[in-house]
Amino acid sequence: MKDLLRLRTSLTEDIERALNDQIKMEAEASAMYLAMSSWCDRNGFDFSAGYFKKQSDEEREHMLRLFKYVSDMGGRAVSPDVTGVQVEFESFRGVFEQALQQEIAVTQSFNRMADKCQKAKDYVTFTFLQWFLKEQIEEEYIARRALELFEIIGEEGTGHYEIDKRVPKIKYEDTYEG
Ligand code: FEO
Repeated sequence: MKDLLRLRTSLTEDIERALNDQIKMEAEASAMYLAMSSWCDRNGFDFSAGYFKKQSDEEREHMLRLFKYVSDMGGRAVSPDVTGVQVEFESFRGVFEQALQQEIAVTQSFNRMADKCQKAKDYVTFTFLQWFLKEQIEEEYIARRALELFEIIGEEGTGHYEIDKRVPKIKYEDTYEG
């Protein structure tokens, strides 16, 4: 039965597993961003709550893009089990530190998967991954810029209020205009 199933797909078991692991990682990122949105909302950071909600939606789209690829290739896409999602965060700044760490971990995960694809000579999946590798430039950039606001604006006085207002305005430009 197992061999018959593999006849339906050019994905190796190892690559299919890595793709499903990534599907889970994106679902966990989506859940984490939603938790961050809730924390920001509860603590009066309205703009950041909206920003994290949007990030959560994007992560779900990433998950679905991977899910569709595995299905389209005749593989077995697994709807991920996401449990134990964090509820509390220690500070406003801590939320953004964790968001950047999460994005860096996602980039590293895609790099490992690209490496795995090259080793397995799976250039179809390798090509599919290019969109995500490029997307991570933007994802990391925005998370890093958001965290930098804490240094630039400072946390004293109305600092948190100003940071909150600036967060959704961060834009990534993929062309260099000097
Ligand atoms: Fe799907 Fe923010 O990485």
